[in-house]
Amino acid sequence: MKELTYFNGEFVEPGAKVISIDDRGYLFGDSVYEVVRVVKGRCFALSYHQDRLYRSMREMDIPVKMTPDDLTELHEILIEQSEIKEGYIYLQISRGVAPRHHAYDRSKLEPQMLMSIRTLDLDEVNKTTNLIPNILAQTKAEKKFAYTAILFRDGICTEGATSNVFAVKDGILYTHPADNHILKGITRQMILTRVAPSLGITIIEKEFDRNFVDDADELFFTDTIGGVIPITKLDRNPVSGGKPGAITLRLREALEKLMEEGLP
Ligand code: PDD
Repeated sequence: MKELTYFNGEFVEPGAKVISIDDRGYLFGDSVYEVVRVVKGRCFALSYHQDRLYRSMREMDIPVKMTPDDLTELHEILIEQSEIKEGYIYLQISRGVAPRHHAYDRSKLEPQMLMSIRTLDLDEVNKTTNLIPNILAQTKAEKKFAYTAILFRDGICTEGATSNVFAVKDGILYTHPADNHILKGITRQMILTRVAPSLGITIIEKEFDRNFVDDADELFFTDTIGGVIPITKLDRNPVSGGKPGAITLRLREALEKLMEEGLP
């Protein structure tokens, strides 16, 4: 088993200095990324990640050089060559390399593609690459020995620093609507469209505030790396008696089952 990095069509040593200092991803955060889970040597929900990637690229006007089939094949090659069965693949595409100037000239830029496959370290947390508020919040949380942070915008609970947030109240599942105030997580989408419906759990996508969070019976995060992540303590106060909530655990288990079964 070997962690691998692939940059613009070639395998390079992990950590290799291959990114130009004029790369717009480096200079401006002018790039997009995806993180896909590898489960039992297969990508989980790759087509969903690819839909989001292609949408991000279209909206950012970054030319798409690769078909979804080519991209799928590359993911498969990384898995095959690394022999990693449980891990994740990080993919980043920047607009390209050019002397620093804010406006871009599409005709003079060649998108740069970086991919890496890593084994999963479950202690690690984590789709333009502009995540400054999230990075600051995560750093602040870790300095206080917290796992992560919940973000509020004008008093409304939006998402986690590196995840989406759900609350359970009286058996109903609540999460922020999929608008431009949150990153529309694929795991969130899985919970809403497949996992919760399969368990007959009602879902309401609506805005809620800090009081609602404090009154919730259960709270959890979702992201590709951790799946359903129970919240058992918030600002030092126990959540659901300091233990993962029952509905949270049912959702976690059902998501894990779906991941084991696989989804293209
Ligand atoms: N982060 N919100 C934010 C701010 C995120 O960074 C992430 C994921 C999510 C959840 O998205 P998904 O379910 O598609 O992973 C929500 C990834 C894991 C990362 O940046 O590494």
